[in-house]
Amino acid sequence: MTLNSKGLALILALIIAVITTTALYLTPNVPDRAIFLTFILSFISGFSIIRVMAELLFFKEINNIYKALENVQDQKLTSITQTKKSYFNPLKRINQEISSYADRKQSEIDELKKMAAFRREFIADVSHELKTPIFSAQGFVHTLLDGAIDNEAVRENFLKKAAKSLDRLDILVQDLMTITQIEKGEINMHFESFDLVELSIEVMDQLEKKAHQKQVKIQLLNSKDHPAYVSADYRRIYQVILNLLANAIDYAGTGAEVVIKITTSAKKVVFELGDNGIGIPEKDLSRIFERFYRVDKSRSQETGGSGLGLSIVKHIIESHQSKINVESSSKKGTKFWFQLKASAAPKSETIIATSTT
Ligand SMILES: Nc1ncnc2c1ncn2[C@@H]1O[C@H](COP(=O)(O)OP(=O)(O)O)[C@@H](O)[C@H]1O
Ligand SMILES: [Mg+2]
Repeated sequence: MTLNSKGLALILALIIAVITTTALYLTPNVPDRAIFLTFILSFISGFSIIRVMAELLFFKEINNIYKALENVQDQKLTSITQTKKSYFNPLKRINQEISSYADRKQSEIDELKKMAAFRREFIADVSHELKTPIFSAQGFVHTLLDGAIDNEAVRENFLKKAAKSLDRLDILVQDLMTITQIEKGEINMHFESFDLVELSIEVMDQLEKKAHQKQVKIQLLNSKDHPAYVSADYRRIYQVILNLLANAIDYAGTGAEVVIKITTSAKKVVFELGDNGIGIPEKDLSRIFERFYRVDKSRSQETGGSGLGLSIVKHIIESHQSKINVESSSKKGTKFWFQLKASAAPKSETIIATSTT
């Protein structure tokens, strides 16, 4: 049998009534009626007062604690209600501790569930992306083995196609490794001072052939004679500009024009890359930095992109405590821009800082 506030009040009130009545009984000249009345009155008032006090201070709080603990055991953490802060009642404080513990656990569980869902989605995406080039290379190799190898006309063609698929696979795996390393914070950013104009020219030179093939004209509005020194990771910023320029060449459309502009001020250097191509629809604009997100899936798979380029760009720029911005419309084309910390002059020593992501 568990003792509740009623039972406790009954026992205590009875003890008080008995003690008072006995005291009166032992006092001379007290009429029996008065003794009886005292017993009744002290019992009723004692019972009421003790019951109310016990209920308020004790049992209600203990019941709340029990309920909260039961919910914790049943993992129903959200059903635990927050009690008002009390500094005087220790039971209330225990209750508060339990509810804030439940709160913390609930958010941990939510976070873990989110991460598990994210991981599942990521694995599904990766498998899907890997499947395409593997199947394609496999198809060409098997066709060759099944006899096509003897046909000179198709042999070289099939081998070239298989090699292209394997190249795509290589790009995809490399991009995946980069993104995982950046996210895990395993990549250290090597900050040094270099000229962003010079770097842009190097990237343009690297993509010159590709631009020529697609009849895309690239224009740099800055002159080599006016360097724009920044404090950043050279290799990573090279990767960023290479990704942005390659995208402009691939997606802006044949005959498009790409303009690169670098603006310097005392503390920062702004890099802008704009094209006058087809643009990115507004509904896709906020999602293009997500992993594997492509506006036109079939078209970008033709170009061999992994769908990870802009996601890597975003990570790198954020590791430089900056932000990548995009603006696009079907009439004007697409413009990407970001800013970096300006640096006075190139220094020979390298400052190493850990990535923040
Ligand atoms: N300059 C651009 N013009 C039009 N669309 C673009 C441009 N840059 C990027 N995109 C779109 O954003 C998507 C994501 O780009 P990215 O992450 O580099 O992946 P990938 O190039 O591998 O497809 C591209 O598939 C393309 O649809
Ligand atoms: Mg790309």
